[in-house]
Amino acid sequence: MTIPDMTSPDTAIRMTVVAVGPGDPDLLTIKGRQALEQADVVVGFQTVLDVVAGKTGAADIRPMAYRDQEAVLDFAQEQAQQGKSCVVCVWGDLNVSAKELLNRVRRRADTVELISGVSSIQIACSRAGISLEESVFITLHQRWDRGSELGELVELLNQGRRNVILLPRPYDFMPPAIAANAIADGAAPGQPVTVFQRLTLPDEQRWDGTLAQCAALPDEFSDLSIMVFPKPPEPDDA
Ligand SMILES: C[S@@+](CC[C@H](N)C(=O)[O-])C[C@H]1O[C@@H](n2cnc3c(N)ncnc32)[C@H](O)[C@@H]1O
Repeated sequence: MTIPDMTSPDTAIRMTVVAVGPGDPDLLTIKGRQALEQADVVVGFQTVLDVVAGKTGAADIRPMAYRDQEAVLDFAQEQAQQGKSCVVCVWGDLNVSAKELLNRVRRRADTVELISGVSSIQIACSRAGISLEESVFITLHQRWDRGSELGELVELLNQGRRNVILLPRPYDFMPPAIAANAIADGAAPGQPVTVFQRLTLPDEQRWDGTLAQCAALPDEFSDLSIMVFPKPPEPDDA
């Protein structure tokens, strides 16, 4: 008797994740664009789908929100099971602060093709004139232990050996609150900080100042905000 191989190419569920970039539709990769053009079903949060509007061929487009993401991903899984080509879109790059969504897709598919994109942190590095290898990246998304996150930030700032690139948590822990808490935890009030908002979008903004100045700003930042804390210049940087 032949035992069927449940992961044979005929039965395996395949899904594709396309990282759409930081907002400017021109930063979608060619490979991502091809996957979208060939897709039967495309799902993603509405703001992410907006980036790829008009690039999805004849696909059935299903926007999702936090409250119904499991149901929309289940629908995509069912379609993939029937042999349809399903694409899940994620913001920026898929290896940057997108773990939860990636895991939700991985739980539903035997094979997940990952098509990388341009991350907002790469754009922040370009705008700030810093390199990733001299930086540490911290995301406050999906972490709820405020103390340990800020402890790590303050420790890195006080060491002064690396730039710190930090993603705030919309909207409960945004730049002014982060700055105030970092000072309370021992960071220098004069520490320089830059906040970028809506990078690569037509209304992109940049604010430069110190931690103390940032702490005093009105809490009116976009959910698309990134903080960059540059390390002190070294003598041979000049
Ligand atoms: C859940 S994370 C996803 C990051 C994404 N995977 C990436 O590579 O950019 C979303 C956060 O990324 C940052 N972000 C994403 N796009 C941005 C943009 N265009 N401008 C500024 N910040 C951005 C913001 O901190 C936002 O809250």
